[in-house]
Order: sequence, then C-alpha cells, then structure tokens
Amino acid sequence: MKIPLSQPDITKREVDLVLKVLSSNILSIGPMVEEFEKRIAEFVGVKHAIAVNSGTSGLHLAVRALGIKDGDEVITTPFSFVASSNCILFERAKPVFVDIDPDTLNMDISQIEGKINSKTKAILPVDVFGQAIDMKSIMDIAERYGLKVIEDACEALGAEYDGQKAGSLAHAAVFAFYPNKQITTAEGGVIVTNDDEVAKLCRSMRSQGRPITGLWLEHERLGYNYRMSELHAALGVAQMERIEEILDKRQKVADMYNERLKNVAGVKVPYIHPKVKMSWFVYVIRLERGIDRNKVMEYLLSNGIGCRPYFTPIHLQPFYREMGYKEGDFPVTEAVAKTTIALPFYNNLTEEEIDYVVEKLKEALSMA
Ligand SMILES: Cc1ncc(COP(=O)(O)O)c(C=O)c1O
Repeated sequence: MKIPLSQPDITKREVDLVLKVLSSNILSIGPMVEEFEKRIAEFVGVKHAIAVNSGTSGLHLAVRALGIKDGDEVITTPFSFVASSNCILFERAKPVFVDIDPDTLNMDISQIEGKINSKTKAILPVDVFGQAIDMKSIMDIAERYGLKVIEDACEALGAEYDGQKAGSLAHAAVFAFYPNKQITTAEGGVIVTNDDEVAKLCRSMRSQGRPITGLWLEHERLGYNYRMSELHAALGVAQMERIEEILDKRQKVADMYNERLKNVAGVKVPYIHPKVKMSWFVYVIRLERGIDRNKVMEYLLSNGIGCRPYFTPIHLQPFYREMGYKEGDFPVTEAVAKTTIALPFYNNLTEEEIDYVVEKLKEALSMA
C-alpha cells in the first residue's frame, strides 16, 4: 500500500468551475476572486478578505499594512512553519520568540509580557496544526501595550477558541491554501481584517501599489504582484461551497486515528484544549522519550507511508542560527520537536488505510 502524507480532495465541481473560468476569457482580476473573498469573509465573520497568491505573501502584506518596519520587534513562536517568522524578516524587523505550551503546542501566552519592550510593535501568534489559540487574551495584552496583532491562521481555517473563529479577532489574520491545507487553491492565501485601512493597503500592495479605484499605470505606494488568479479562486470557491463537509471529514479521520492510537504504549495522541474546536490540518502524534523517532519514520516510509517531523524549530534553521539562536534557547519547543510525527492525513483517507498506518506504526514501535 502507498499512502501519501496529504492529498487534495478535488471533485467534478472544482474541475467544472476551473474550466468555466478558462473558457470565460477572464483569467485574472475578475468575479471569481471577488466571490472567493466574499465566501471567506462570511465564513470567518469579518468585514474584509483579500485573496493573494500564497499564505507567505499574505503574511508579508499584513506585516507591511500594520506598519512594522526596520528595527521593530515582533513577538512570535519558534514552533511553526518558517514563513510565520520570515515575514517579519522581510521588513527587517526582528522576530522575538517565546517558548510554547507543552500541550497545545501554541505560543505560551503567559510569556509574552516578559518580552515586551520599547521596540515591540506586534505579536504574531500561530494556530499550530489547526488548534485555535486564545486570541482574546492576546488581544487584551496587545491593547494594554498598544501593539498590533497578526494571527497566522494559515493552518486553521474553521478552527474556534471559545466559540470565536480563528482569524476573526486580530488586526489582520492570514489563511493559506497549499494542497495539504483544509481547502486548497493549489497555491494561495487570504488576509482577513475588520480594519478598512488595512484592507485598503493590502488590496493596493497585492497589485503593484495601485490605487484601488485608480488607473492601471498609477502606483501610489511600493507594491508587489501577489494577486490570486481567477483559476485558483475558482478552485477555492468550489472548496468553500463544501467547507463544512470538508471539516467534518477531517474530524472523522482524526477520530479514527484517536480511537486506534489512544491506548498504544509510547504514543501520545494530539492534545486538544477543552475550549478549542479543531480544524484539523495535520495529525501529529508525539512519541515518548527514548523512542528513536527517526527509526520509526524510516520504517513507515519504507512501508509506503508518508510521514514528516512537523516542525523543525524555526530558531534552529541554519540561517536563524547565523543570527545567534542556538540549541537550548527554547527548551519546550526543542523537546517537543524531537518527538513529533505527522501521519498521513486527508479528507478521503479510508479506515483500511488508517488501519494499515496504525499496524505499521505499532510494528515500528516494537523495533525502535
Ligand atoms: C503556519 C504557516 N504559516 C505560513 C504558511 C505559508 O503558507 P504558503 O505555503 O501558502 O506560503 C504556512 C503553510 O505552509 C503555515 O503552515
């Protein structure tokens, strides 16, 4: 059996809608992007959604739109995908990491205030693996210190904390749509915000700094080409039409894994905070100390099972080490990162496939 780590869920509707765009003669800047943005804004419960060509470009625009610049400090997490910190470096600001909560794996909110100083401009929390972070507490801290908040919700479309949707409270939040995400546009992302000015700046900067209602060759500010095409947006619209079904399917796959793995010695199933409604991005188990994670992964891979050590801490990536970060800086992150394995996870993963993954995992554990 060959089971990939992730797989998109593309139906005839997605194909039809993309083909419709192809034969419409409007391949960029058209109604599909508008429709996709409308659906995202409604779903998240925010005023504005601005579609872009990746989660990374969305984060970059959010950083710029909130005025983060050279020398500013932004408090964030080292346990994430590297783009959540790189977007700070793009503007020559400094990521200031705080360690994580050992259960939720999200940024430890109680450590934020200790890192605030006169250079601090913003907080950039991440909803890791689709587990919504307590944004209300973060917004309270931000308000007290006059800071901006960018929520990297790239992995968390549809997640909730205490009934509040991920992406709905921050000054700006970003979702991403690479094919391993809950919904995909092949490549793509979206910025969401309730702030009219932030929305206006993001719309302008994603399209070469043009005024929103201006002339094609007029450029008010430094901008980029971060636009999402109509083809990508069509894919996104078709996926958003069945977002609830998609989130349910993912919950069912996670339930099947949880049921089979909860009593397996050496394995910790994902912890979910009681106030969180997960939007499952990946299914990440943790191995108990002393088990050779690499051996387990090698065995799974040799049996055709896709798996990955989500995440390698950002501060230990080679070019972050060059900035002075080193092993030992964030002990919880580092300890967790040595034990994690993402198992195959996607909407249409079958019970039979899950049984096979679990069987091979148990065999691997008996040898590691
Ligand atoms: C936490 C996080 N931030 C940012 C990104 C960047 O998104 P993209 O790959 O669409 O640029 C991703 C997705 O890969 C992510 O998981």
